[in-house]
Amino acid sequence: MAAIRERRLDRSEALWARAQKSILSGTQLYSKGPETHIRGVSPIYIERGKGAHVWDPDGNEYIDYDMGLGPILLGYAYEAVDGAIIEQLGRGMGFSLVSPPEVEYAELCLRHIPSAGKVRFLKTGSSATEAAIRIARAYTGKKHVIRGEYHGWHEWTASGESVRQGGILPDVRLAVHRFEYNDLESAERLFATYPGDVAALITEPVMLEAPKPGFLEGLKKLCADNGALLVFDEVVDGFRFSIGGAQEYFGITPDLSTFGKAAANGMPLSIVAGSREIMDAVDRSIFISTTFGGETLSLAAGIAVMHELENKPVTKRIWSLGERLKGETNQMARRLGVGIELEGYPCRMAFDYRDDKGGRDWLYNSLFMQECVKRGILLGWSIFPCYSHTDADIEETLNVFEDAMKVYRKALDSGNPASYMEGEQLKVVLG
Ligand SMILES: Cc1ncc(COP(=O)(O)O)c(C=O)c1O
Repeated sequence: MAAIRERRLDRSEALWARAQKSILSGTQLYSKGPETHIRGVSPIYIERGKGAHVWDPDGNEYIDYDMGLGPILLGYAYEAVDGAIIEQLGRGMGFSLVSPPEVEYAELCLRHIPSAGKVRFLKTGSSATEAAIRIARAYTGKKHVIRGEYHGWHEWTASGESVRQGGILPDVRLAVHRFEYNDLESAERLFATYPGDVAALITEPVMLEAPKPGFLEGLKKLCADNGALLVFDEVVDGFRFSIGGAQEYFGITPDLSTFGKAAANGMPLSIVAGSREIMDAVDRSIFISTTFGGETLSLAAGIAVMHELENKPVTKRIWSLGERLKGETNQMARRLGVGIELEGYPCRMAFDYRDDKGGRDWLYNSLFMQECVKRGILLGWSIFPCYSHTDADIEETLNVFEDAMKVYRKALDSGNPASYMEGEQLKVVLG
């Protein structure tokens, strides 16, 4: 049994009220906003973190599993990374000329990322996918883009979404087409619809569902046969699956790839990588240029992350923590007779929630998240084990999961699970 914590959320609520008057939509990333949590029960703000633990402005402590929505690979306030940032801070954050950490970090990327013959650095995952598509169009001279799930907020990718289309030129939408992951035919159909005019197919190499045998290889061949570039968006997978990303894990090297989130353990750093042949071919025609691309604190953090990955069993530990959490959670769910399952690879998981008939409802996610956060476990969309989660953290989490599953069972048995909600149900938001 894990105790339900006595908590107040007054400071979180007061800050959110102020944000309504000063910040567009109240948040910089929609999925960090309170709509994706249980309003009235979940904290809205996090003020500080250490290891895998975070504290809200009211002083409540939680074990976190969404890890800053992906960036926190090693842990919050992780000494080797923070030390490297502080050391670099003493030298300067950025200069009037290019600076040595750019070269050092580029060489580390080339050493470890299979598709990296040359790289460029940006600040966000969106900028990296924007750059990849620009490179692909410049290299191929073609127009259309076949895309997978979420790739960021820039115009070409946002135009392929079904929500928040304000301000996007309708013409952009005509050149962006979605295909279904693990459905090679859906990609083949699009190549056939725009023969000879597809610049790139961009997809995450993997999300939760494992790639079917031959799927990633099939995409590579399809692109090669049609003169298009294969782009792996590793903004989430990168550095979690392995130091060389999911491309290294699956042994499939794309033409271009993008990395972001976990690259610098929370500092803003993203990478677009490509073969030397492609990068050299577009060098004189492409325009990718940004003041903070060579900002040194993030590069120092990125170098420190690479060194931790090189020298410590980070990847192995993250995978083994995830395996334990997944195995024991799913076993527990079966024992308690609830339709809850942790899905995905151990380094990148998410919950699937169902009722006894196999039906899904956001109410079910909300119920489980509510019961967890009341007991000090903060869940979001993803479950990302980090290097600093301890065995004791996992023990405690499993205790809380057991209590939350028992409430979930009772709520379903009551015939009125909504009556178990103490706060507002979460909403699905994009981005
Ligand atoms: C697969 C993928 N690509 C790109 C992005 C965009 O990254 P950013 O939010 O850093 O712009 C995200 C963000 O969640 C993502 O999940």
